[in-house]
Amino acid sequence: MWIICELPVCWLFFSVSLSLVVFSVVVLITTWQKRSPGLSLPPGSMGWPWIGETHKFYSEDPNVFFATKQQRYGEIFKTHLLGYPCVMLANPEAARFVLSTQAQLFKPTYPKSKETIIGPSALFFHQGDYHSRLRKLVQGSLSPEAIRFLLPDINSRVISLLTSLEGRTVTTFHEMKNLSFDVGILAVFGRDLDDQCKEELTKYYCIAEKGYNSFPNRFPGTLYSKAVAARKKLEEIMRQLIQERRQGRMEKNLLSVLMSSQYNNGVTLSDDQIVDNVIGVLFAARDTTASAMTWIIKYLYANKKLLESIKEEHASVCRLGEGSDCWLSWEQTRKLKLTHRVIMESLRMASIISFTFREAVADVEYKGYLIPKGWKVLPLFRNIHHSAEFFPEPKKFNESRFRESPSPGTFLPFGSGVHACPGNELAKMEMIILMHHLVTKYRWEILESSSDIEYGPFPIPKGGLPAQFFRQSSKEDEQLKEIA
Ligand code: HEM
Repeated sequence: MWIICELPVCWLFFSVSLSLVVFSVVVLITTWQKRSPGLSLPPGSMGWPWIGETHKFYSEDPNVFFATKQQRYGEIFKTHLLGYPCVMLANPEAARFVLSTQAQLFKPTYPKSKETIIGPSALFFHQGDYHSRLRKLVQGSLSPEAIRFLLPDINSRVISLLTSLEGRTVTTFHEMKNLSFDVGILAVFGRDLDDQCKEELTKYYCIAEKGYNSFPNRFPGTLYSKAVAARKKLEEIMRQLIQERRQGRMEKNLLSVLMSSQYNNGVTLSDDQIVDNVIGVLFAARDTTASAMTWIIKYLYANKKLLESIKEEHASVCRLGEGSDCWLSWEQTRKLKLTHRVIMESLRMASIISFTFREAVADVEYKGYLIPKGWKVLPLFRNIHHSAEFFPEPKKFNESRFRESPSPGTFLPFGSGVHACPGNELAKMEMIILMHHLVTKYRWEILESSSDIEYGPFPIPKGGLPAQFFRQSSKEDEQLKEIA
């Protein structure tokens, strides 16, 4: 009875809402066209009113979604996702326009729910003076000069992780996450963080991370509400650490740099700003680097000849070098040319950050098209990396393509412009050291040969790449030496 009475009311409500939405879209488009005569919106379809093409985006592989659209409409096209009108850019020149040359016309944009977990003062969310001040501090703490000093610690963390994997069946991505978090913690807090504090940070970080990628529902018991609570705990632990470190001796690391920085007029960063940025860096560092390392392990396993060449390269550097017990020194890492190319090709193939989001802060004209104020703009890194025009046979793993530098603006694994990744040197160093210990002391078997990709949200091989790792026997070690 209740349902029968309610149905017509629902329909009436639905029809009125739908008409209003259609009416608003028509009014908006007419207004834009009046505001910018002679300019047209990029080609593309906006899908259904309000929901746009969100359902299609989520039901298909996002790469297939973008690639199909690019084939149909070209390198610049419009769509409507997650409640927002969007312009997608799949060409290097357009990505440069948005991220570098006209970056002031496009601000970073993230869902409020994500900003709540990371903290509103984290540098990702800002532009202008505050952003450049923070960026200098973060970049300085993660520069090659700073990372040099972390080398022995990264070596020992990689060795300890690999030792813990010996003979076990593991989910590679999960293990790589442990490693990248460990290294992230090292870069942020330095060596003298006690084990109990690290355990607590890890525990609450993991809860926060689960909720970060879930539907943002604050109802008690949901992943998101647990993440908000865990974030509060992380904040408490970090405030306590900041207090303790203010009273003691401070080793140089990202936390100490943030704590001691002073702006021109002597203004320091507040504890809130420090905490938000530390949490932000930890989030930026973990899954991205773990995903890249997982792909490298998969690609090397699939390319046995390449694996042999990499082994040779590392064995030769080890024999010639002065690093103790085969721990790579800074100078040795610079000599590993093939290893560098494998990392570049893995980053291109996997395109860990497939695209990024900006929002137009004014009506912008680009190549005769109008990008209206308030629209989201998405440079599509993966489409550029997988374009046959810039990378012939793009689906094929071919590290030798990086013997020559890629054309400017076509290789963007770490983004570009004012928000480009300040952690790229650290990430690459982790990958080099992992590869070194892996290929010189281990062999591994991948237990799932599927080529399927999962998004969580970064691309990873199906199931996180279940694998077994075995320490090479001394006989195998001897064979390795003979090769060298
Ligand atoms: C393979 C690993 C990594 C990849 C593929 C990666 C990729 C990226 C990309 C594409 C951006 C730019 C996003 C945009 O323009 O919207 C970015 C930004 C950032 N990344 Fe990374 N990243 C990696 C590792 C790291 C690490 C290890 C750290 C820190 C230790 C880090 C810290 C950051 C920070 C703080 C930003 C924001 C910069 C800003 O807004 O100015 N990333 N990263």
